[in-house]
Amino acid sequence: MSVERFARKELLSIGGASATRVALDPIPGLINLGAGDPDFDQPRFIAEAVYKAMLEGHTHYAFGGDPEFKAAIAEYYKKFNVDVDPQTQVIVTSGGSQGIFQAFAAILNPGDEIIILDPAYQGYNQPAAYFGAKIVRAKMMKDRNGLFRPDVDNIRSVVTERTKALVICNPENPAGCVYTKEEVEGIAELAVEKDFIVIDDEIYTEFIWGGRKYYPMITQPGMLERTIIVSSFSKTFAWTGCRAGYIVAGPELAGLINRVPVGICSVPVAFQKAGVEALKRGWSFVDEMRKAYQERIEYCVKRMNEIPGVRCPYPEGAFYLFPDISEFGVPSAKLCDGLFREEKLRIVPGTTYGTNAEGHVRLALVAPIKTLEDAMDRFERYVKKLTK
Ligand SMILES: Cc1ncc(COP(=O)(O)O)c(C=O)c1O
Repeated sequence: MSVERFARKELLSIGGASATRVALDPIPGLINLGAGDPDFDQPRFIAEAVYKAMLEGHTHYAFGGDPEFKAAIAEYYKKFNVDVDPQTQVIVTSGGSQGIFQAFAAILNPGDEIIILDPAYQGYNQPAAYFGAKIVRAKMMKDRNGLFRPDVDNIRSVVTERTKALVICNPENPAGCVYTKEEVEGIAELAVEKDFIVIDDEIYTEFIWGGRKYYPMITQPGMLERTIIVSSFSKTFAWTGCRAGYIVAGPELAGLINRVPVGICSVPVAFQKAGVEALKRGWSFVDEMRKAYQERIEYCVKRMNEIPGVRCPYPEGAFYLFPDISEFGVPSAKLCDGLFREEKLRIVPGTTYGTNAEGHVRLALVAPIKTLEDAMDRFERYVKKLTK
């Protein structure tokens, strides 16, 4: 008997998790620059805040999320000049992944079209497919520096009557661009004109380089009722295993998302209390991470560009490199496979993020400089063999 006859039909068309998002048993000598899991240790005061909250008895239901945590999230948005009402506009989620799922659950009907950029973070595809939505890809275009960027004309060209939403990620993973004012305005104008929702993944807003500025989508004219911000503490506080994130949206949309029957808010209350502490006292830790990432980016971009055949732009945000390796004439999946087998270096093929990114690979700079030096040596050694 096959279990398939019990299955929700959409699940059958969804494969398992992508190879880079499957935990590996420890492999001696492996350098893993696959998943974007920051390598920094959580500051002690955050762990202590969890413990303290439990001792204080914060171990009961927090229906709809802990009010203090929601207030701290709303307060945080003042930094971006975004007014957020904690009661009607904030939804606590178990990380960005659950936020994406809940946002999609609230708006997608089978057959609706959802526009996902190409390349884009792969975590949007399966939830969209699960709700029976049709994924439509809009190609990003490279700028003079070789960074993939959103292209409003390309997005416009794939909008139809059935378009329900567009997903963006600003700063972008894997592309590394930070949306300019014009890009944000252009997308907002199109969303209002064609009446669709923008799901705005803001998980990397604390990691913006070179003095660039973050322009929020939700404050653009007509966008309060059309923007669903999805964010998470996973990257901001190197908190991937603790699972805390949130959605911010206009009151009407947030009300709709709140109707999604996910049950009780799935972030343990003690961690929500620790989230309050993180938002109050975690900023010097974030500064330290920023400094380390900047140093890593400087070093690795330089090393990459010294390798004949590699073109590696500086990312404007987030902590990934997305070099062009097309000159080697090898599919990115094959190159990554070879690196893994022969050099024990794990990185991600560009095609994980879309066909438009063939000829690229993604490296998550989630290891100390010493390890990255070794990783660059391995990469260089391997690709030099390809050109012999
Ligand atoms: C762009 C983007 N959105 C969402 C997520 C999911 O984040 P979380 O770990 O909070 O579920 C990730 C994780 O890598 C990501 O890169």
